[in-house]
Amino acid sequence: MSGIASSPVDPFAPDFLMDPYPAYDALRALGPAFELERYGVWAMAGYAEVEPALKDWKTFISGEGVGLHGMNPALPKPLTLQIDPPDHDKGRRVLGRTLSPGVARKLRETFQREAEKKVSELIDKGTFDAVADLAEAYPMKVFPDAIGIRPDGREKLLAWSTFVFDSFGPENEMLAASRQEGLAAQSWIMECCARDALRPDSLGMMIYQAADDGEITEHEATHLVRPFLTAGIDTTVNGIGNTLLALATHADEYRKLHHRPELARNAFEEGLRYDSPVQTFFRTTSRDVEIGGGVIPAHRKVLLFMASANRDPARWDGPDRFEVERVATGHVGFGAGIHACVGQMIARLEGELIFSELARRVKSIELTAEPRRRLNNSLRGLESMPVRVRAA
Ligand code: HEM
Repeated sequence: MSGIASSPVDPFAPDFLMDPYPAYDALRALGPAFELERYGVWAMAGYAEVEPALKDWKTFISGEGVGLHGMNPALPKPLTLQIDPPDHDKGRRVLGRTLSPGVARKLRETFQREAEKKVSELIDKGTFDAVADLAEAYPMKVFPDAIGIRPDGREKLLAWSTFVFDSFGPENEMLAASRQEGLAAQSWIMECCARDALRPDSLGMMIYQAADDGEITEHEATHLVRPFLTAGIDTTVNGIGNTLLALATHADEYRKLHHRPELARNAFEEGLRYDSPVQTFFRTTSRDVEIGGGVIPAHRKVLLFMASANRDPARWDGPDRFEVERVATGHVGFGAGIHACVGQMIARLEGELIFSELARRVKSIELTAEPRRRLNNSLRGLESMPVRVRAA
C-alpha cells in the first residue's frame, strides 16, 4: 500500500469529460495526491501540488511520455514535449527563438488584419457557428500562414492533433473515433514539414535556418516544424472557443469587455484559466516521492490535472466565476517550468486580437442553441456553438 488515498473515478470517461469540474472538486478533497484505481496510476489535482510538480522536471520527468502509456521505442525520439534535459534544451532553444516576443510583434499586423476581416464577415452574417466560423477559422488561417504551409487540406490539421491529444489517454472510444482520420492525415502533415513545402519568409523556414547554421540537423528541423502543427492549432482553437462560450454565457462580463476592449488579452487569459483547453498531462516519477503521508514509488505515471489546479479555491478567489478583469497570471493552462508552452506568445496574440476586435465591434453575443461538446482525452473544447451577434 502506498498510504495515499485512491479513487475509482475514470477521468477519461465521457460523462466525466462532459463536465469535469464537480469531479475535480471531489478529487482535490482526497488530499495532495491519490491513486486512480482503474489505471493503476497516481494523480494530483490541487494547485499547490500540480504547479510545483510541473516545475520539478527532475522528479516528474517527461521523457517517458506525457501520456498514460510509455514512449513507443519504434518511433523517432521527440525533440520537445516528451524529452528531458539536456536533450530537451536544443530543440527548445530553436523553437523559443522562432516563437519569441519579437517574432510575435512582427506577426501582429497581419494577424490584426485577418481579425478585422473575420469579424466584419461574421457581423454581416449575424448568426453563425462560433466554432467552425470563428474559433477554428481564425487560428487555422493566421498560424498555418505564418508557419508557411499550403492553404489546401488544412482541415487535416485538426484531425491530426485531435488524434495526438486523444492518444495521451487510454484506448477508449474517443481514441478509437479519432485514430483513423488522424493516421490518414499523418503523411500530409509530414509533407508540410519538409523544407521545400514551406514559404521562404516563414516561421517554418526559421527552423531550417538553424539547420543551415549547423545548430540542428536537417532531420531534426523537420521534426521541429511538426510540433507547430500538432500543438499550435487545436489548443488555440479550443482556447478561443472556450473563452467565447464563457463570454456568450456571462453577458455582464461581455459588456465589461465591450466597454473596455483593452481587457481582451486579460479576458483570454482568464478563459484559459476558467476552462483550460489542455486539461491534463502525465509525468513519470524518477524517484520515490513522499506526499500526503504516503509515497508514490519511482517509475510510476502521475496524472497532473492542470485544469483542476486552475479552479482550486485554495489558490483562486471564487475560482468558478469567469471574470474578465481577474488577474489570472500564474494559471497553469500553458503548463509551467521548462516545458511551459513555447507558443504562448503566439496564442496570446491570436486571443488578444480576435477578442479585442469582437469587443469593439460587437455589442452582444448570445447562444441560439445548446453548444455541443467535442470530447477528447486531453483537450476540452466544442464541436459547435450556434450564436447571434449584434453589431455595436
Ligand atoms: C507546451 C498549452 C498554444 C507549442 C504546452 C504545454 C501546455 C500547452 C499546457 C505544457 C506541456 C507539458 O508541460 O508537458 C497550450 C495552450 C495553447 C497552446 C492552452 C493555446 C491556447 C501553442 C502554440 C504553439 C505551441 C500556438 C506553437 C507551436 C507548444 C510546444 C510545447 C508546448 C512545442 C512543448 C514545449 C516543451 O516541451 O518545451 N502547451 N499551448 N502551443 N506548446 Fe503549447
